[in-house]
Amino acid sequence: MTSPDSDAILLHSATPETTAAVAERLAACCPDAAVVYLEGELGAGKSVFARGFLKALGVSGSIKSPTYTLIETYALQDGRDAVHMDLYRIADPDELDYLALDAVLERLRVMLVEWPQRGAARLPAADVIVALAFAGNGREMQMRAITPRGVTWLRAFGQSPSADAAV
Ligand SMILES: Nc1ncnc2c1ncn2[C@@H]1O[C@H](COP(=O)(O)OP(=O)(O)OP(=O)(O)O)[C@@H](O)[C@H]1O
Ligand SMILES: [Mg+2]
Repeated sequence: MTSPDSDAILLHSATPETTAAVAERLAACCPDAAVVYLEGELGAGKSVFARGFLKALGVSGSIKSPTYTLIETYALQDGRDAVHMDLYRIADPDELDYLALDAVLERLRVMLVEWPQRGAARLPAADVIVALAFAGNGREMQMRAITPRGVTWLRAFGQSPSADAAV
């Protein structure tokens, strides 16, 4: 189902485990300082995806949803930070000014952002946008490359081995 010649990949995910497995596989070929926007309605699976991605980077223990804090930062073994944001509850993109994202970017391994449209232009641009949508009992997952780095990344994903025959 993946097409290495295209800058977008469409997958069907029947279970949360499959969504997490796709995220793990994307994390395995993640370029440094990558930015991923996670789009989709409430309950679409953005946090499931983010947890799978963060675990693949070595984050252990509980991965809290940053619904109220807006941002959770995880120090990785390589000294870089993985950042998970959820902007559902911000009233105004100006609130992002208090998060000092410039400093965060200096040692960024990856930034995963749920509800990125609420941060508007205050956020760094996405390399890849992952859009999740309800499809029957499962989810449709579209991964779209935005930057040249994102294109290279998705091509590497398309060529990487999948542990799950469904993905
Ligand atoms: N194929 C699937 N992929 C992901 N989640 C699924 C899938 N099928 C069912 N689910 C369920 O859907 C829910 C997804 O919840 P999750 O918290 O990831 O959504 P979210 O997009 O982060 O929502 P929010 O906008 O509230 O943060 C979970 O309960 C998960 O078990
Ligand atoms: Mg969520």
